[in-house]
Amino acid sequence: MAQASRVLSLVNEKWQLNLALEEALVGGAAIDATGTALPSETMALCEKADAILLGAVGGPKWDNLPPAERPEKAGLLAIRSKLDLFGNLRPALLYPQLADASSLKPELVAGLDILIVRELTGGIYFGQPRGIRELEGGERQGYNTYVYSESEIRRIGKVAFELARKRGGRLCSVDKANVLEVTMLWREVIQDMAKDYPDVELSHMYVDNAAMQLVRAPKQFDVMVTGNMFGDILSDAAAMLTGSIGMLPSASLDVNGKGMYEPCHGSAPDIAGQNKANPLATILSVAMMLRYSLNQAEAAQAIEDAVSRVLDRGLRTADIAAEGEAVVSTTEMGDAVIQEFQ
Ligand code: NAD
Ligand code: IPM
Ligand code: MN
Repeated sequence: MAQASRVLSLVNEKWQLNLALEEALVGGAAIDATGTALPSETMALCEKADAILLGAVGGPKWDNLPPAERPEKAGLLAIRSKLDLFGNLRPALLYPQLADASSLKPELVAGLDILIVRELTGGIYFGQPRGIRELEGGERQGYNTYVYSESEIRRIGKVAFELARKRGGRLCSVDKANVLEVTMLWREVIQDMAKDYPDVELSHMYVDNAAMQLVRAPKQFDVMVTGNMFGDILSDAAAMLTGSIGMLPSASLDVNGKGMYEPCHGSAPDIAGQNKANPLATILSVAMMLRYSLNQAEAAQAIEDAVSRVLDRGLRTADIAAEGEAVVSTTEMGDAVIQEFQ
């Protein structure tokens, strides 16, 4: 976040965007300081902002709190839900300079450009009832409910079809319609929408096959649309194709284009505080914010170009470095991006 904020401040000045940047606590930091993962001042700031940049929440320190108080549910999911940020865009784009950092052979990922459109405020993450209950006999049972209404499917479908139309014209809807009724309805609704988008080639795929195809031949995909949990899992897998989860930004949008922007990765507890994390996913999330919520495509492009040039210059944090290659720190990577603007 520190590196992304620096880049945002610089771009704000250089393009005279007149953005007022305000900071607020969320997640574990907010629990430590105020006792709650989403203080009302933070929520009020999010409500009045045109766009939100979010650092990842969660970590071992808060893992034993009751589910409803944890940073993930009480912080992150609460903001997503309260602001109705249902449309989550996760672009898995391979920077050609990183073809060797991908876990797949370079020829399988050269030119890779997939957009995962994940439904973010429904599905099994939010379905009721949910909980852990005691069964007769004393054994406990955990349960969640996987639900989607037609209107929820239609609005995420619309996001995906519209984006597919502007990109490669292909949309793959991912479900588990061979087993789960909720996704039988999902498939039916998405299929029905296809008649309004004759220019988009629609296909359907079961999620298990989609996971396999992503690591077998990922370039077959253009836009993928799926529910909350499948999208969470598939986007982490897609991230690795681009070299590292440290490269994957995201946008979470409401119907009007207001959005929250965050890297797809989490708080990386195994390397936190060591100045090792790759800041590019968060920096690229700033670019998405400028493009999708603030209508500043030129400034967004400038950030993406700066990232590309930094990769051209061979700068690599540990996660994207080839074996034996020199490694830079989080701050050095931030410095390098900033230098591109001087
Ligand atoms: P994670 O994404 O934090 O880490 C998974 C692996 O990827 C780790 O080895 C980590 O070091 C590496 N990694 C992640 N980001 C990196 C970066 N920028 N540079 C280099 N390496 C990076 O996922 P996890 O370990 O499953 O979760 C850790 C915590 O983060 C949990 O509390 C989880 O709930 C939370 N989380 C939060 C968000 C969010 O706030 N958006 C997203 C995912 C996970
Ligand atoms: C993500 C994260 C979150 C999710 C967690 C932290 C709640 O994994 O943004 O991908 O599952 O949506
Ligand atoms: Mn995730």
